[in-house]
Amino acid sequence: MHQLKASNQKHIRALSIIVMMSWALCIWVSLLVTSFTTWVYKWRNPKCSGKLPPGSMGLPLLGETISYFKPNTTSDIQPFIKDRIKKYGPIFKTSIVGIPVIVATDPDFSYFVLNQEGQCFKNWYPDTFTKIFGNQNLATLHGFVYKYLKHMILSLFGHESRKKMLPEIEENVCNKLELWSTQNSTELKDSTASLILDLTAKKLMGLNPGKSSENLRDCFASFVDGLISFPINIPGTAYHKCLEGRERAMKMLRDMLQERRENPRENPSDFFDYVIEELKKEGSLLTEEIALDLMFVLIFASFETTSYSLTLAIKFLSDNPLILERLTEEHEAILRNREDANSGLTWKEYKSMTYTFQFINETARLANLAPGIFRKALIDTQYDGYLIPAGWTVVVCPPAIHLNPDIYEDPLVFDPSRWEGSKYTNASKTFMAFGGGMRFCIGTDFSKLQMAVFLHSLVTKYRWEEISGGNICRSPGLQFPNGYHVKLEKKEI
Ligand code: HEM
Ligand SMILES: *[C@@H]1O[C@H](CO)[C@@H](O)[C@H](O)[C@H]1NC(C)=O
Ligand SMILES: *[C@@H]1O[C@H](CO)[C@@H](O)[C@H](O)[C@H]1NC(C)=O
Ligand SMILES: *[C@@H]1O[C@H](CO)[C@@H](O)[C@H](O)[C@H]1NC(C)=O
Ligand SMILES: *[C@@H]1O[C@H](CO)[C@@H](O)[C@H](O)[C@H]1NC(C)=O
Repeated sequence: MHQLKASNQKHIRALSIIVMMSWALCIWVSLLVTSFTTWVYKWRNPKCSGKLPPGSMGLPLLGETISYFKPNTTSDIQPFIKDRIKKYGPIFKTSIVGIPVIVATDPDFSYFVLNQEGQCFKNWYPDTFTKIFGNQNLATLHGFVYKYLKHMILSLFGHESRKKMLPEIEENVCNKLELWSTQNSTELKDSTASLILDLTAKKLMGLNPGKSSENLRDCFASFVDGLISFPINIPGTAYHKCLEGRERAMKMLRDMLQERRENPRENPSDFFDYVIEELKKEGSLLTEEIALDLMFVLIFASFETTSYSLTLAIKFLSDNPLILERLTEEHEAILRNREDANSGLTWKEYKSMTYTFQFINETARLANLAPGIFRKALIDTQYDGYLIPAGWTVVVCPPAIHLNPDIYEDPLVFDPSRWEGSKYTNASKTFMAFGGGMRFCIGTDFSKLQMAVFLHSLVTKYRWEEISGGNICRSPGLQFPNGYHVKLEKKEI
């Protein structure tokens, strides 16, 4: 009897513990559910003291990241953007890689954002970018140091400097084309990348084409593949490879700088010489870390962008024989008007390439190498009845402007002559391939020079035949998933 009672009591106690526990669990779960739903609610309806643009914040944390990065083969505006413009209008909100974002797709708002640098908005890229590019890169530096670095880069790639570079670029281009014409097939994306890297590496660190520039290119190649990718840093992901590529490239640059310090040269001529001089100065703003990060950004900025433009340019030429004919005519005329057809290209000749510049603009318009230009709102800003809350990211979307039929008639058609008669010289609002405002691309003219010289040699001396690839994919950055293989052949003159 006694035993039974005891066991009963034990049971009851156990039972009441279980009841209590499940009760607690219930409370806990319901609290969790409530706070989760509030959280989700808050995520989807961010608190703010004004009217936010329309749009969906997607799933908690993940936002609409997956649809943003979804690959597509269209040359048109990325479906992610296009669908939302249709649904919400030209300014909408979303969330990408865990941050609240307002997307700008109309010219006026985009122009407004890019021209408020340091006032309402500042240049800013997500943490994933700063991890990749280093904390000291140009995109994140502000004010004083920034101006100083910009000055330094401008002197490196400025007008006088470019004039001096012209013969060097031409020689390099001719050598490369000669080499490619001996091959059965040339993959243009990698080949032009190696050409551009050779030019930049020479300018930055006096590196002659060869083994080390090849190594450097390998580091950058794995780096680039994961650049605009989903930021998950585990082995096997593109993002992980990207970070590894950066590590290796930085180590190479650091070693090269060290070597140069130990063996200084008589006549300072490249960026390394400049850096070493500058580091020696008392009270210099430059540190080795800043210099190396900067170097990394410059190599990256020049090598990927220009080589993709060139590859696409050749694709456009293959697809449009009449345009190729007209471009060839312009360059053959340059040779005809010379006293000695074999003398090198002059600056004056370069400046006379009217159609070529239209061609390059048109290539940049359709290439849309920058799918988004990122800014951060510094203060609450009112625009067109909407509030852009401080701390939010604004992504200006150049493709939405370049492919807008109200601005460019038949926007998907490749037609260089649409640039004739400087119809678009008001271009800061309608042409953002190189950015805009204070942060306008420093390398624009350097890149155009390289492209023009390349095109000059290519169309006057060679013809080519497509072998395979050349199809594009955007995710949302431009890619050539199968490369672009052509067979280059010398023209008999
Ligand atoms: C087809 C070629 C190129 C394209 C389409 C391009 C595109 C761009 C764009 C869109 C920006 C603005 C980024 C922003 O506002 O956040 C930019 C900035 C920049 N670009 Fe380029 N670029 C090209 C070539 C180059 C080259 C060859 C160099 C190297 C000399 C270069 C160096 C830079 C630098 C240093 C910045 C940052 C400027 C600043 O923050 O003030 N770019 N570029
Ligand atoms: C690309 O986007 C279009 C339009 O949204 C869609 O119809 C098509 O299926 C997409 N293609 C791929 C390969 O995702
Ligand atoms: C290049 O093509 C020719 C003829 O088609 C062939 O005989 C030769 O082996 C090829 N060379 C290489 C390196 O593939
Ligand atoms: C190319 O675009 C630039 C920048 O928007 C513009 O100023 C220039 O006039 C254009 N060039 C030609 C040849 O139309
Ligand atoms: C150029 O911009 C100015 C001022 O923004 C404007 O008044 C003018 O109409 C524009 N011209 C063209 C051709 O769009």
